[in-house]
Amino acid sequence: MENVFVFDHPLIQHKISLLRDKNTNTKEFRELVAEIAMLMGYEVTRNMPLKEVEIETPIGMAKTKVISGKKLGIIPILRAGLGMVDGMLRLIPMAKVGHIGLYRDPDSLEPVEYYCKLPVDVEEREIVVLDPMLATGGSASAAIQFIKNRGVKNIKLMCLIAAKAGIERMHKDHPDVEIYCAAVDEILNDHAYIVPGLGDAGDRLFGTK
Ligand code: PRP
Ligand code: URA
Repeated sequence: MENVFVFDHPLIQHKISLLRDKNTNTKEFRELVAEIAMLMGYEVTRNMPLKEVEIETPIGMAKTKVISGKKLGIIPILRAGLGMVDGMLRLIPMAKVGHIGLYRDPDSLEPVEYYCKLPVDVEEREIVVLDPMLATGGSASAAIQFIKNRGVKNIKLMCLIAAKAGIERMHKDHPDVEIYCAAVDEILNDHAYIVPGLGDAGDRLFGTK
């Protein structure tokens, strides 16, 4: 699958199994989402540009490297994307954070926007959109369209579980956006939940069931 990167690292796969388990409680679920986001963030930021600098060590001068160029922004899709923010900020504490609030209308299954606040210089940043679940792809596609409308060129999507239908929707609407995920599931049920998935990510994260 073009532009789709599935993380097969054993630590990530192990934690995804715990996340899927219906007996995992809210506290554990929250911790696991943050941990997986951090582990995935390590790879998602692999291509960040570096520049050479000269630093004086206690012994002498060293030519060494620091991150340069484009600054990073992370944008969680509310609510469930919030669970991935802390993990990413542990790696990139200087990243700016925007928020896009969307919920899926239970009847039409179409995303409805209720909040959008992005960093003022969002168009100068490389953006990573965070949402644990890519089901029909409607929410991610709409969120990414808002961000593109603000002039952002460089966008990545980081999710935990992606359904094939969501990946196809993203390929159709936003073929330029790379998708990073920890698992690809085959199907959706009649309510457009991912099967087997992990259930309702927002409810499991915040205990609102
Ligand atoms: C979930 C999930 C995604 C969306 C995925 O959010 O966090 O945003 O559904 O479904 P889609 O790919 O079919 O659009 P939900 O709408 O349940 O809102 P919540 O995070 O506030 O619970
Ligand atoms: N949203 C969720 O939280 N879970 C799914 O399986 C699909 C959409």
